[in-house]
Amino acid sequence: MTNPILSDADIDLAAMHGKAVAIIGYGNQGRAQALNLRDSGITVHIGLRPGSSREALARDDGFDPQPMADAAAAGDIVMLLVPDEVQADLWNGTLAAAVRKGATIGFAHGLTIHYKLIAPAPDLDIILVAPKGPGKALRAEYATGRGILGLIAVAQDASGTARATALAYAGAIGCGRAGILESSFQQETEADLFNEQGVLWGVIPELIEAGFDTLVEAGFAPEIAYFECLTEVKLLGDLVYERGIAGMREAISNTAEFGAAQGSGRIVTEAARAEMKRILGEVQDGSFVRKLVADARKGYPTLTASRARAAAHPIEAVGQRMRAIRDKS
Ligand SMILES: NC(=O)c1ccc[n+]([C@@H]2O[C@H](COP(=O)([O-])OP(=O)(O)OC[C@H]3O[C@@H](n4cnc5c(N)ncnc54)[C@H](OP(=O)(O)O)[C@@H]3O)[C@@H](O)[C@H]2O)c1
Repeated sequence: MTNPILSDADIDLAAMHGKAVAIIGYGNQGRAQALNLRDSGITVHIGLRPGSSREALARDDGFDPQPMADAAAAGDIVMLLVPDEVQADLWNGTLAAAVRKGATIGFAHGLTIHYKLIAPAPDLDIILVAPKGPGKALRAEYATGRGILGLIAVAQDASGTARATALAYAGAIGCGRAGILESSFQQETEADLFNEQGVLWGVIPELIEAGFDTLVEAGFAPEIAYFECLTEVKLLGDLVYERGIAGMREAISNTAEFGAAQGSGRIVTEAARAEMKRILGEVQDGSFVRKLVADARKGYPTLTASRARAAAHPIEAVGQRMRAIRDKS
């Protein structure tokens, strides 16, 4: 199934005219989206919890942050830009009673809606506008006249205009400059959660550490191991982004390309592919999300232990030294 890629030419920004947006949370996405929307001429209210560490930053950026319920009540569109695992408690405890009748509730990731962690009232429009990149990139690209790819979807269309609102919102944060794909909450959520665990954040860093360990245990200098196994990942990332995987192979030496052919299938074996399918199964049956929410409610013991393990790996000490030299020169 292929979807057309939409761009600014397909967007009618009139769907946003006269509408105020409440941004709930001022973190990675909250700040970037708030700044891009304001630069696109949209009125933005910022909602923060009491004692928020981001209040000063929001004020420095020229906003006047409010309590979350007040901001939500002021928004025709209310974007929930706090971590996924706390959205349900926040919605049920504060926001559901505060939002206007007939408002549009927006998400940057479909998890809360797809797994039915909240049950929004039937008069609300429920939309997804998911930029496919971190908030810093969303803001930086917008500021230079570009954008990053975004996905949009509609889960509930009480007004009959939810799709137009989602498209216009995606345009206002700059995604129309790079491309907008129409998707569904299910596809965006499950593909994103699968990729996070089975490819990007769950596997590539572990491959880097395992390669580094292999070289260091065999007596190679840690600095050489760091450069080979970690620094060069940036070259790979840039090449596959620019040219695709086949194009990347054309840009590397014959030796590297022959080595790639020899190495392929030895690490990502049939067993690894079977494990990927199990990861997808745990995403689709909801067991991953249950673990995520349970960890948050206990104060993040699993996440904290995993951060401590990563920080204690010997590659970190070498990396600090290498990056200090690089950043000085
Ligand atoms: N990271 C990305 O760039 C990215 C990319 C695509 C989609 N998304 C999606 O965007 C959404 C937001 O993610 P994010 O990474 O931008 O979040 P984030 O940076 O972790 O969000 C931080 C903000 O959430 C507030 N917050 C955290 N816990 C809270 C709680 N229990 N009650 C009330 N406020 C709380 C923080 O409050 P304080 O200011 O008080 O600390 C802060 O303002 C998620 O749905 C995520 O999946 C993120």
